[in-house]
Formats: sequence, structure tokens, C-alpha cells
Amino acid sequence: MDVIETKNLKVSYDKKNFALKGIDINVKKGEIFGFLGPNGAGKTTTIRVLTTLIKPTEGDVQVLGYDVKKDALSIRQRIGVVLQQPSYEWSLSVEKNLYVYGVLWNIPKNDLNKRIEQLIKDFDLNDIRKQYASDISIGQRRRLQLARELIHDSELLFVDEPTIGLDPIIKRKILDYFKNLSKNGKTIFFTTHNLEEADYICDRVAIINKGMIHVLDSVENLKRKYEKERTLEILFNDGNDLLMKKLTDRIDSIKIISPKEKGDPYKIVTDDLSTTIEIINDFIKSNSFLLQWFNIKKTELEEVFLDIIGGNKNE
Ligand SMILES: Nc1ncnc2c1ncn2[C@@H]1O[C@H](COP(=O)(O)OP(=O)(O)OP(=O)(O)O)[C@@H](O)[C@H]1O
Ligand SMILES: [Mg+2]
Repeated sequence: MDVIETKNLKVSYDKKNFALKGIDINVKKGEIFGFLGPNGAGKTTTIRVLTTLIKPTEGDVQVLGYDVKKDALSIRQRIGVVLQQPSYEWSLSVEKNLYVYGVLWNIPKNDLNKRIEQLIKDFDLNDIRKQYASDISIGQRRRLQLARELIHDSELLFVDEPTIGLDPIIKRKILDYFKNLSKNGKTIFFTTHNLEEADYICDRVAIINKGMIHVLDSVENLKRKYEKERTLEILFNDGNDLLMKKLTDRIDSIKIISPKEKGDPYKIVTDDLSTTIEIINDFIKSNSFLLQWFNIKKTELEEVFLDIIGGNKNE
């Protein structure tokens, strides 16, 4: 059984519009699962359901083998959650914040002190350990928030945008920290806008947009799948539609993106470059259309993301 399993998960905040429109995901034990999508895609809403903060409107959701609707408490006791909103006590020092949280989680005093020292070291909080949480920088607060959530052992950690506002050195450190946690068996579910980051630590990623999952695959597979793929930009003075028809007739997997504005090139996404070029060549030889624009580029993971996100903007 997987650590997270959702079937046809739907959430509506207002009983009219759906923030999640039927999400199917599964997260395996010990993996780092990246949940990617633009603003408003439904990432935080999904985390809220998985961490039992809100109930699904429809669908079936199991976390660590428990049903989110029936066994919220059992789930809460076993997970760690770092949300987007700040959650710490402003009027306490950094170390006191960690301490109070440890006490709330019932961690024996001896263990707790050791853990606090380790986390202060891991999250570079030593210089500011005596400062009030209200007096530290945004990035330092984020680190405090992450450290605090790691005070108690959890099998499954949810982190909503862990690295926003962090400088590159700390960012890398925290990502490495997550990698290490997952090596030791912890499962991490984290959201991000950043593909590079996902590429660096995730075993698998799902891309969500407008409440729907568009891709769920290992980063490796995604890369392999798109490695062969090329994007051609092309425009003739006339006859473009004829060429596009010839291409789609011959190559099943080809994808054509028609220009939104007149005068912009057509985009042809193909995993069979040689046949594509051959068809274009024949087209040029047997017609008298003039080529006005031509360009070939490799499809980057970033573009896959933009393509998925941008491709249905007008839905
Ligand atoms: N508490 C709420 N009440 C009503 N609508 C909400 C609420 N929270 C989110 N929404 C709506 O649900 C949709 C999904 O929002 P959500 O916060 O899950 O997006 P997100 O992917 O986390 O975005 P971001 O990257 O900006 O954090 C949006 O249309 C949003 O306006
Ligand atoms: Mg969010």
C-alpha cells in the first residue's frame, strides 16, 4: 500500500467551483514527491486535504493507510506539516520556539535538548538562537518553521513551498537535508513552482493545473521522454495549414501549436525529427511557398511545464 493514495479527489470551497477536479495521485514510502503547478493550481488545497485540515468534497483519500474522513487524528499524529503561512510564536526566542514545540509533542527533555542543538546546527540558527521570532528575517523564519516541524519524528512530511525566500546556499542545504531524510525512510511531499529544484531532489513529480493532474512520472522518465523531442518553429508566406495537415497525417505523435497572432510561427513538437524534416522538404520542393521563419530547439523540462500550464489557459 502506498503512503498517499487519492482517487477522484474533488474539493469545492463554495459548492459551485471546484478547486480540485478529480485528483488521482499515489506517493510511495520513502520517496520525495514534487507537486508542481502555478499559482492557484490547487497545490495548497491538496495539502490541506492530505493533512486533514479540510475534508474532500468527493473522492477517496488514504494517508498512511487511514481514511482522511474517518481517521484524521491517526494521520495527524504521524505526519509533519510546514504550511505556507508562518506558524511560530513571535514573542519567544528561536530556541524557545523549538523547545515549546518539542514539549507539545511530548519529547523527553534529554532527547529534546539534543535534537534542538542538532536542528539549530542543521538550519544555521545558531547566531540568532536568542533572538525573538519577531525580530528575525523572512528567510530565517522559514528555517525556524522547517526546523520546528522536524522536532518530532514523522513518517511523512508535507512542505508547502519550502524554499521560497531562501538564499541559494541555504536553499541547497535544505534540499540536501530533505534528500537525507528520505534516505532514512521518511516520505516527503512538497510543492514548488521551481522545476530545477524538483529535478534536484524529487523521485517523482506531478504537475497540477486548474485542479487537474497533467503529468505524474519520475523525473528521469520525463527527461527521457522529452529528450528525443524537438520543437520546430516554422512559418511560410502561405500554405501553412496544408503543411500541418501533411505532418499530422504522417506522424501520429506530432503536436501542432497554431499561432495566436497572425505572423507568428507554427510550433511543431515532434519526436521524429528526420521524418518531420523530410515532409517539410517535400513540401518546399513541390510548392512555391516562401519560408519566412524556421527554428529548431530542444524541448526543455521547463518548456514541458510551460506547455502543460500554458496549453490550457483558455479552457
Ligand atoms: N479558503 C479558500 N476559500 C475559497 N477559495 C479558496 C480557498 N483557498 C484556495 N481557494 C481557491 O482554490 C484554488 C486553488 O488554490 P490553492 O491555494 O490550492 O492554489 P496553490 O496551487 O496552492 O497556489 P499558490 O502557488 O499560489 O500557493 C484557487 O482558485 C483559490 O482561489
Ligand atoms: Mg499554495
